[in-house]
Order: sequence, then structure tokens, then C-alpha cells
Amino acid sequence: MLPFQSLISIDKNSIIPVYQQIANRLVSLIREGIIRPGSALPGSREMAELLQLHRKTVVAAYEELNAQDWIESVPRKGVFVAQNLPEVKPRKFTEGVSVSAYAGNTGFSFNRQLIVPAPSSGVQKQRLVINDGFPDLRLAPMEALMREYRSLTKNKTIHAMIERSDPAGVYSLREAMVPYLSSTRGLSIQTNNVMITRGAQMAIYLAARLLIQPGDYVAVGDPNYHLANIVFEEAGAKLVRIPVDEQGMDIDALATACKKKKIRIVYVIPHHHHPTTTTLSADRRMQLLQLVRQYKLAVIEDDYDFSFHYDSAPILPLASTHHDGCVIYIGSVTKVLTPSLRIGFMVAPENFIKQAANLRRLIDLRGDNLMETAIATLIRNGDIGRHTKKSNKVYHQRRDMFCSLLDEHLSGIVNYQKPAGGMAIWARFHRQYPLPAVAARALELGLFMNNGAAYVTGKANYNALRVGFASLNEKEMQEVVGVLARAVKK
Ligand SMILES: Cc1ncc(COP(=O)(O)O)c(C=O)c1O
Repeated sequence: MLPFQSLISIDKNSIIPVYQQIANRLVSLIREGIIRPGSALPGSREMAELLQLHRKTVVAAYEELNAQDWIESVPRKGVFVAQNLPEVKPRKFTEGVSVSAYAGNTGFSFNRQLIVPAPSSGVQKQRLVINDGFPDLRLAPMEALMREYRSLTKNKTIHAMIERSDPAGVYSLREAMVPYLSSTRGLSIQTNNVMITRGAQMAIYLAARLLIQPGDYVAVGDPNYHLANIVFEEAGAKLVRIPVDEQGMDIDALATACKKKKIRIVYVIPHHHHPTTTTLSADRRMQLLQLVRQYKLAVIEDDYDFSFHYDSAPILPLASTHHDGCVIYIGSVTKVLTPSLRIGFMVAPENFIKQAANLRRLIDLRGDNLMETAIATLIRNGDIGRHTKKSNKVYHQRRDMFCSLLDEHLSGIVNYQKPAGGMAIWARFHRQYPLPAVAARALELGLFMNNGAAYVTGKANYNALRVGFASLNEKEMQEVVGVLARAVKK
């Protein structure tokens, strides 16, 4: 007889009833070929003794298995595994080792190797974390947002909202975006030009998938937002890397590249380029628009960080100028409130928005209707505008304070250019202080920071990382810089 007492282990703390655990385990043993079709099972009394359980529990398990036709009870003979089940070649049985169908690797051949850097924060348990440049949730109008959200869950129209839902986003939010984007960014658009996405990231993905044919050349900054590069390459693009300096992407270099190669798409981050945080200057924007007209380029303008500019008002987007329908404009609400609220937007000609909505439907039938509706209210009643203004002031002060702290404690070790806006500083560590070692030491001191690996591309190793300052208050900034200063001393 099989050693049922070691084959069937019971977890009395499980939410699954004990009889169900026995039945489930017996089914697995039959499926794995360890118990063969037609073989006898111990009677309920004997099994109850083996498992040290009440007999009634085993009877209930057998009744369950009987009802599902896994076993049959033959009067006066005993309990047998059903005869008609297919023979399974038994797996090697190792006592004490539980078998899970989802351990480790797939059973079928699977060689896909998507290399995407792990998130730089969020999963970390450290009290102090350097993120890429996140807003401070503590400043966001979350109470007002949650009040709106709650009131919608009580609203009788909630079902109608789902039935009428559109992969381009909740209509009221698309509608609210029209005056909002007109007053903040000078965009002259209609509701049909707006699609709501789950963050700017989804908008980048959708635009890339619709625009890129395998082998297409896509011009990107060098260095560039690594997740956009991966999206483009995944879609089959060949990247043409254009240097980025203190005034953003070098448009002369782009013009030269356009003469040499049939570039179809340009991805540009006009405010606070990721990772280097520089802003595309007004003259370069005009130069870029000329190239767009000349070569009929498709531009993906990722203005993820438009709302936070300190030294002046933000520069109006390319999308606000006449561009012959060539600019796909992308923005994000996640940067205004919190990255956990997955709301962003894409602005484009209507035919493009329709296709983007169709494509989105293949992976995500609709966005978060309730959240989108609540955000629409906060845009219309001015809460988002007031919050943006208030946090702009706070982040401005934080930027100045963080830069002073860097100058005071890390001068000669960290090199940076004060960004005109945004939520992060591109901190380049002196070669003498390799980031992987600094990050490891910082972790020992209770601070998580990424080790700069995401920005090591080909020959370039910037030994740099984005240090998000916006989410840190005064005390936290002092602590972070203090730990960094200690970490580089080792
Ligand atoms: C340049 C850039 N674009 C897009 C995104 C994605 O933003 P979202 O959180 O809105 O998806 C990020 C995120 O940090 C980013 O840095």
C-alpha cells in the first residue's frame, strides 16, 4: 500500500476544508499516475487512522471524489479508483517533496527573453528610497479624489457607465481634457483627439505599435528613457541615437541623421529629458518642426513632466504649433498625483486615436471608469489645477534645497546640472565611486537606490542615476544626502 500518511499532508490552518484537501490531493496523485486506475484505496476507517482524522472527514472526501467520477464504491468490496481513467506514466515519487505544476520553468519550450530593468523602487523595504522622480503623495488631493470615487460607487449609473465604456477612455474625462490642455498647453483640440490611457507608458506603447514597421529607424535621445527604447525595439525598430546636451536633443545631429537614413519616427521628451533632465530649447523646437515638415516625420512628443517647471513657465509643446497632424502628444496624470494612479493621455488626429483605442482593446478592454470619472470632476472643479500650482512651489523649494545639500556634502563626488524643472536630478558620480558599489553600501546603511545599470548602453557608462527629490521632505532629503556621503566614504 502507498504511504498515504506522507503523500497526503493536511494544513489545518488552510481556508480549504480538510475533506477538500484530501480529495484534491488524491486527484493529483491519480493525475500524476502515482495511484493507478482500478487500484483500491484504503477504506474510510483505515484512511482516517492513517491520516489521524475523523472518519466522517474521509467519508466526505470520498463522496466528493465519487460525485466527480474519480472513484467508485463497490458494496462489500471497497473503494476503487475509476477503471476508465487513462493510464499515466507515474512520476518518480520523492517522499516529502510536494509537487507544484508552477515551480520554476515552463514545461514547453519557451525562449522569450524580454530584458526589462526591474522597477527602481516600490518593491524595496528600506525606509529611505531614491526613486526616479515621483510626486509626493502626501501633497495630493487624495481625500477629495476618494470622496468623488466613493460617491460614484453609490451612483446608480455605475452599470450604465460600464456598458457605455470606450477603450479611448471615459467620455467625461476626454471632454474635460479639452479645455484643460488648451489652457495649460495651448493645444487646440476636440474630444475625439484625446484618448485616456493607463499612464504615459501605455500611450508610448500604443503609438509605437501603430507606427513602427519592423526595420524602421526611430530617432531617440542618447541617453534615453530606457523603457521607451525597449518598446521601440520590441516593435522591430532600429534606434538611431541622437546626442542630448544642455538644450535637449541635438537637432542639427538629427538633421544629419535624416539625410543619411530614412528616419520615420522621432521620440522626444521636451521637458526634463529622461534621464538627463534637460529641457528642449524653444529654438530647437522650431528647428525640429521644420525637419518634421520637410521629412514628414511622425513625432512622439512625450511631455510626461510638463506640469513642473520652476525657472519659467513651461515651454509650449510642439503639438500646440501647426504640425500637419505629425505630432502624437503624450502626457500623464501619474506625475501630478501619484504613479499608482494609472492615468495618462494621448492627443492625436482622430484616425490615429481610433486605431489606438482598437489596439488597446486587445490588451485592456477599458480603463478604470470610476477613477477616470473622478479625475474628470477634479479637473473641472479646479482641484487638479490648484494642486499643481501648490506642488510646483513645494518641488521648486525642494529642488533648490537638494542641490544645496549636494553642493555641501558631495561636491567633487557628484556632478549634476540644476534642472529647470521636473522631479529628479541626474546625478553623475565621479568614476572613482562606481555606482554598483555605492548602491550596495547605501543599502547596508538603509537606503535603496538603483545602481545606474539601466543607463549603461553599449560603450556608454554614465555612472549616474536619477535622484528623485520631489517626494522627499526636508528631513528625508538631509537623511538621503547624509547616507550618500557616508556610502561614498567606504
Ligand atoms: C519619460 C517618461 N515617459 C513616460 C513615463 C511613464 O509614465 P506613467 O507613469 O505616466 O506611465 C515615464 C515614467 O517615469 C517617463 O520617465
